[in-house]
Amino acid sequence: METKVLHIDTIDEREKIKEAADLLRAGELVIFPTETVYGLGADGLNDEAVDKIFAVKGRPKDNPLILHIADPEQVLDLVKVIPPKGKDCMDMFWPGPLTLIFERSDMVPDSITAGADTVAIRMPSHPIAHEILKEAAIPVAAPSANTSGRPSPTRLSHVLEDMKGKVPMIVDSGDSHVGIESTVLDVTVDPPVIYRPGGVTKEDLEAIIGEVGIDQTTIDASNHEVPKSPGQKYRHYAPKGDATLFAGDLRNIAKEINRRIKETEPSKRTAVLCTTETKEAYEGMDLLIDMGSREELESIAHDLFDSLRRCDEEDIDVIFVEGFDFRGLGVGIMNRLLKACGGKVVLGL
Ligand code: TXA
Ligand code: MG
Repeated sequence: METKVLHIDTIDEREKIKEAADLLRAGELVIFPTETVYGLGADGLNDEAVDKIFAVKGRPKDNPLILHIADPEQVLDLVKVIPPKGKDCMDMFWPGPLTLIFERSDMVPDSITAGADTVAIRMPSHPIAHEILKEAAIPVAAPSANTSGRPSPTRLSHVLEDMKGKVPMIVDSGDSHVGIESTVLDVTVDPPVIYRPGGVTKEDLEAIIGEVGIDQTTIDASNHEVPKSPGQKYRHYAPKGDATLFAGDLRNIAKEINRRIKETEPSKRTAVLCTTETKEAYEGMDLLIDMGSREELESIAHDLFDSLRRCDEEDIDVIFVEGFDFRGLGVGIMNRLLKACGGKVVLGL
């Protein structure tokens, strides 16, 4: 299939926005930028269109999809009730990187919810996403636009790697600003529970709605309970190399990683994913990636998936990754790193 790439820089490019929206309304797949990661969109009320998402991504059918909207009013038709804390979150964090889980109405097809009685909804803040969704005037189902299991795409080159030739249209609007996916919050329970940590932090949420729980399986590699959010149970964000995460005192982490680099068979290519503060501490690896400063977790999140993909581009066999504190955006970053490492983590260094 021929993939058309449409570059849209501003919301004044009405013809291009309409072209993308029309294609969505016609039941076709359109990849579009959001502030978190690129999304693989389809008409969320059209079963056939939704089926195409699962086919193109190679996504397991038991993993439900998020519906994307342009106007909070659209929620009313899609859910049974809006609980008061859900309403507070909509008022405070939408548009933005927060997905809310509600009891679903009969209007939402089973293909979206994987048969569950809940539905996930999000209103993105990316201006181009917003305009496409507004013009399309339908809820748009959109998972991250990667092949299942691979790191989510945060720039056009990532999208092309995974999706070129598989979809009719990609809308490009530069790098995703946040870089990790939205926070998924279940507001059908009280206190609400985070199923996937992301751009909106637990602390941000608690400032508005009080106590918020977090599903421990999302941040604890040794917890083997079934995650509340089906997507969290799959190996995810995984680079091709064998990755291990190291947490604890930074000097000890560097010592341990250096020791392991030395022990690695010379024929294997090694990479270290580190931070500006620590990059001088490493020696002997084939690739050193400075993900940014520990003082600016936003920049770490922004570069995270690109760093994982770069390891693949450079044919890295063994990857050593520095960990972060489980605080603020660090929780979302550690969740992605734990999954990228398939739960392989060395703690307490
Ligand atoms: O930032 C994002 O959320 C991006 C952009 C494109 O909007 N989308 C995204 O979608 O990350 P996806 O499909 O890659 O991840 C959706 C997550 C999965 O972990 C899925 O299991 C969970 O949300 N989810 C969806 N509906 C759910 C539901 N009803 N109950 C529990 N978890 C749900
Ligand atoms: Mg995904």
